[in-house]
Amino acid sequence: LDNGLARTPPMGWLSWERFRCETDCTTFPDSCISEKLYMAMADKMVELNLKAYGYEYVNIDDCWPAKERDPETGKLVADPDRFPSGISALADYMHARGLKLGIYEDFGVQTCAKYPGSEFYMEIDANTFAEWKVDMVKFDGCNSDPNDSPYGYPTMQFYMNKTGHPMLYSCEWPLYESKKHDYPLIRKTCNMWRNYGDVTDSWESVTSIIHYFGNNPQNFSTFTGPGGWADPDMLVVGDFGLSYYQQKAQFGMWAMFAAPIFMSVDLRTITQEALAILKSKDVIAINQDPLGIQALRLYAVPNSISVWVKPLVDNSTAIAFLNENNEGRPTQLKTTLSDIGLKNSNGYNITELFDGKAMGMYKPTSPFDVLVDPTGILLLKAVPM
Ligand code: GLA
Repeated sequence: LDNGLARTPPMGWLSWERFRCETDCTTFPDSCISEKLYMAMADKMVELNLKAYGYEYVNIDDCWPAKERDPETGKLVADPDRFPSGISALADYMHARGLKLGIYEDFGVQTCAKYPGSEFYMEIDANTFAEWKVDMVKFDGCNSDPNDSPYGYPTMQFYMNKTGHPMLYSCEWPLYESKKHDYPLIRKTCNMWRNYGDVTDSWESVTSIIHYFGNNPQNFSTFTGPGGWADPDMLVVGDFGLSYYQQKAQFGMWAMFAAPIFMSVDLRTITQEALAILKSKDVIAINQDPLGIQALRLYAVPNSISVWVKPLVDNSTAIAFLNENNEGRPTQLKTTLSDIGLKNSNGYNITELFDGKAMGMYKPTSPFDVLVDPTGILLLKAVPM
């Protein structure tokens, strides 16, 4: 969507994967979906200096509204017990800290968790979000006719645009659609779009998303670029299910995909190790590269190493070796840069991106043997000489 937003992949924090739909604030005062949670995360984003690394949006997901709309105006209302100050005040809270607020709705009659949906209320809801000074809208597709996506999503975009208030538009289209996806229309309508199922806190979930992006059905990678991004869903870095090496692999692959980077982690208890991954500035630079090209998978050795390539703005290339082998020792791959498509005869200077380690100079045809940790990643940048 060419609305001036998301010229590089948006970055921030989103509550869904980690905090889900807990609405019992008596039993779970610190982790229920409430204004307190989003304020606490915003405070942490400031304290941990995450803004300096590009993390900007603090996003509400499902379960924020009251179960009924305002009977007189038809407007959505935030749950009065959990959001006593209201969404507009929460937006002010974010803006005062240099952050942005995102909200969630659904183009069907109800959201996935059965809160009021936007069907028949899109104009009112777009106006309400603009009035509240919300900066981003995630629009889900539960409880709708999935084949209505090509009408529902553009309608909301039309009304959001009409408000004159800039709002980044995150669509869950084409996820719910059963037929062939109209990617040109999706690209025109949305700043980012989900085309695969929800991430959960496991390596299996993360690799299933990676496989989908590697298979690249309908060449959806070709629609990614400034203003519009394919969204492989949130990061689970710092949560319960991934090893340290797997967390690096998810972060590195999301960077390769030019994916929106939305953490979904409790920033109050995150480990230094996970935080360091989220702050890997050379990896973030790959993600934010102005060309905005989504990495393609060159080839994959079944159950072992897959090779991925992402061209960067300065003629250099990011290369990822992802190892899905879980035997207890690193896997070796013998290759050459030329085999990976890097043919500059003067050779390349290679750097490992997570720890900044210089690996030296390689000619295209000289042996280039890499060792990749079990269920881990080796992420490199090759700069032509
Ligand atoms: C769907 C979406 C998730 C989340 C939930 C909320 O499953 O794909 O990202 O928004 O709904 O109910």
